[in-house]
Amino acid sequence: MILLDGKAVSLGIQETIKTEVRMRFTPETAPKLCVILVGENPASASYVKTKCAMAQRLGFRHELHHFPADVSSDQIEARIDALNADPDCDALFVQLPLPKHLDSVALANRVRSEKDADGLTRASMGALLLGESHGFQPCTPRGIIRLLDAYGIELSGKEAVVVGRSNIVGKPMGVLLQQRHATVTTCHTKTLDLANHVKRADILVAAVGVPHLIKGEWIKPGAVIVDAGFTKTADGTILGDVEFEAASLRASHITPVPGGVGPMTVITLMAQTLHAALRRKTPSKSEN
Ligand code: GUN
Repeated sequence: MILLDGKAVSLGIQETIKTEVRMRFTPETAPKLCVILVGENPASASYVKTKCAMAQRLGFRHELHHFPADVSSDQIEARIDALNADPDCDALFVQLPLPKHLDSVALANRVRSEKDADGLTRASMGALLLGESHGFQPCTPRGIIRLLDAYGIELSGKEAVVVGRSNIVGKPMGVLLQQRHATVTTCHTKTLDLANHVKRADILVAAVGVPHLIKGEWIKPGAVIVDAGFTKTADGTILGDVEFEAASLRASHITPVPGGVGPMTVITLMAQTLHAALRRKTPSKSEN
């Protein structure tokens, strides 16, 4: 069994990005990532902290815009509009989930597509669906494909099963796997007999946030297991959606949790931020 080590793959990408930043920017013009965080959700706060720390490590500039949980939609919209108009801000995203009174899809979509390093606007999602290569892609599925590529895992013709249909992971993951010529099945809360779908999977991507939903005995021998689940239990243990120990006995490759998908999500956001900043430096005619 081979561990799909997202942390190690991320380290390699970090070196490439750092070199590029040193070569192409000064500290004053370095790529700038702006983050909007609403409320005190501990998981969101922790993800944002990790993203800001990584931005710093890579030599980016970053800015955290933290609002109280009862902030109005108008206030967030005004801040997004200001950052959209600020030539110094290269990339901008709203950390999800948002409190119930806010419309996540609408607010994520308000980000200017040129600054959408998170890949969640209508323009980026539409480009993804149409197979257009110039758009930004949602960071977790893009990072997963990059991780699989780093280990030379063939996707063409494989049975891929995605468990979860979120806008952030499940839906775009299915599209990316299909673009790589996998045969894709998407499972969700209303799927009957999840076990039987999982048992057919050569490539399994679990992204539901239900700890150990996927049992080790369901795993097809030799399957590649990608676990995007990340749940912190009361005692601080972090669990994925797949029974890691039992699944490891059958899988050919498996991501650890933590240290598998998470680092790939973060480094993909950084790579896309760098891309946005490089476009700022050398805008193409259509973007002028
Ligand atoms: N919450 C969990 N994952 C993500 C992500 O990739 N982007 C944003 N904006 N919020 C998230």
